[in-house]
Amino acid sequence: MNWLPRPAEGKAYAAPSLLSADFARLEDEIRSMETAGCDVLHLDVMDGHFVPNITFGPFICKAISRVTDLPLDAHLMISHPLQYVESFARAGVDGLTIHVEAESDVAATLKRIGDLGVKRGISLNPKTPLEDIIPFLDMVDLVLVMSVQPGFGGQKFDPVAVEKIARLKQLRAEAGYDYLINIDGGINDETGPVCRNAGADIMVSGSWLFGAPDRAERMKILQG
Ligand code: DX5
Ligand code: ZN
Repeated sequence: MNWLPRPAEGKAYAAPSLLSADFARLEDEIRSMETAGCDVLHLDVMDGHFVPNITFGPFICKAISRVTDLPLDAHLMISHPLQYVESFARAGVDGLTIHVEAESDVAATLKRIGDLGVKRGISLNPKTPLEDIIPFLDMVDLVLVMSVQPGFGGQKFDPVAVEKIARLKQLRAEAGYDYLINIDGGINDETGPVCRNAGADIMVSGSWLFGAPDRAERMKILQG
């Protein structure tokens, strides 16, 4: 198990989303992100049902875990996560984030993830109100706020996410919760600092980081 403490105030972790990597050269891409100073790898798992796109599953996650010591955070955009969390845990991921909109029982799935010794994450789509995840906030290590409709990289940031980040930070302080706040979708040099200032602890970025002429420079912009 490989995980991250809460970052210092005003700082954040950079989490490249491998969705934008060149998968024919995956190990080189991971090394490049390590050299550029990334903190955690974000693995976008899509089933073609919960979202209209298909990526990869535990088999590829296991291959990734063999070539890096970075923490691996898998974002499960799948309809039935409870059926698969054990396979992902066996594949060596450190965090498993499920969607509150998925069909599996949310509390039971989070409990199962915790029992497997993996960090528990919950995510919500831009149109889903924060109220829908509040009953689960005492059960999670990570909240992943979506700032695009999940399914594809390279979309435009939806500012509805900024208010959710700020409320999650406030709720965490008031109730003594212990989750990291993760922001995902359309993150760049404009939207990244806005989210960090609102309270995001982990900044996921796909197209902007992988498309960078200088990946280390952009990583530092995200980290603050
Ligand atoms: C979208 C994924 C994101 C995506 C982010 O479904 O969950 O992680 O890869 O990519 P960018 O940074 O290009 O929006
Ligand atoms: Zn993601």
